[in-house]
Amino acid sequence: EKRPNGQVAWESPSNIALIKYWGKRKNQIPENPSISFTLSNCKTITTLSYKVKENKDNFSFDVFLDGEKKADFKPKIQSFFERVLVYLPFLKDYHFTIETKNTFPHSSGIASSASGMSALALCLMSLEKQILDLDVTLSAVERSEDYFNQKASFLARLGSGSACRSIEGDLIVWGENKVVKGSSDLFGTKYPFKVHDIFKEYQDTILLVDKGEKQVSSTVGHDLMHGHPFAQNRFQQAHDNLEKMKTILETGNLDEFNALVESEALTLHAMMMTSMPYFILMKPNTLKVINAIWGFREKTKLPVSFTLDAGANVHVLYPKRDAIPVLEFIKSELVAYCQNEHFICDQIGKGANQL
Ligand code: PMV
Repeated sequence: EKRPNGQVAWESPSNIALIKYWGKRKNQIPENPSISFTLSNCKTITTLSYKVKENKDNFSFDVFLDGEKKADFKPKIQSFFERVLVYLPFLKDYHFTIETKNTFPHSSGIASSASGMSALALCLMSLEKQILDLDVTLSAVERSEDYFNQKASFLARLGSGSACRSIEGDLIVWGENKVVKGSSDLFGTKYPFKVHDIFKEYQDTILLVDKGEKQVSSTVGHDLMHGHPFAQNRFQQAHDNLEKMKTILETGNLDEFNALVESEALTLHAMMMTSMPYFILMKPNTLKVINAIWGFREKTKLPVSFTLDAGANVHVLYPKRDAIPVLEFIKSELVAYCQNEHFICDQIGKGANQL
């Protein structure tokens, strides 16, 4: 068998959850379903160079971020390789050079795990494809794009749960549920139902309120849902919210959309405030931004809302048709609450691309 040496490259975006994933079981199985907008501008670009090696006892790889060797990235990738080895049995046959960069500035407080892990998973899938292409017995199913994307999402999940929602766009569901047939705990699937035109080109302006290191890693955060007094209610609520979201996405009712998305964000933070140990991940400026958004919405009747990840930064969501007044508001009022007046304009996107 002739194993290839070579190089593949992918760019893969971040995503923002509308219904949040918070709490997981063994092997990165989510406790509740989530749905996200795939983003467009915030992405990771990863080049994977691979070279057949002699000694096949261990993993062998180097990681570079912006051309600089990053020893501190190695443990995360090492444990990712360990988890996916059974699904990619060729991993120990190669020495890898992983070169990665993000379109958003690092240490901006934007998590790069979803874009980074999905980009790496896709590179590994491209390598698998090259190896499998040597196999003439492969079925049409195993050669299909669906198989490729599904397995890429499956692998990305094992790197970072939410990364499984970054392979495709523009709305992705992850976590088995009754609303979306074919949904799975193991990989993300494209949202299959009718979506109102208002959600096309939906905007997400990310306000960098705090660029510091995350106070709580998401691994620790998910673990805090074990034995959490409100866990079961929260997991059920996510199922119920997904059902509500289906109607909202179809009708385009933005008042209901805003209420549901904001409630999800605040619930995520409420879970962290009511766990043991407890955490407050918002900063004073996070609350100032939220209050300013509510004031602006009240005054102008424009459908602007916010969502949050497990940190202090605020994602401002709004339809493209309102971009001019909303950006005006962001620039005149909200940038004052951002670190170094830093914000990033993004929008709903189509998923990863091979380069
Ligand atoms: O993918 P993780 O393990 O970093 O978890 C991220 C979870 C949230 O971003 C807080 C919510 C979500 O659904 O993306």
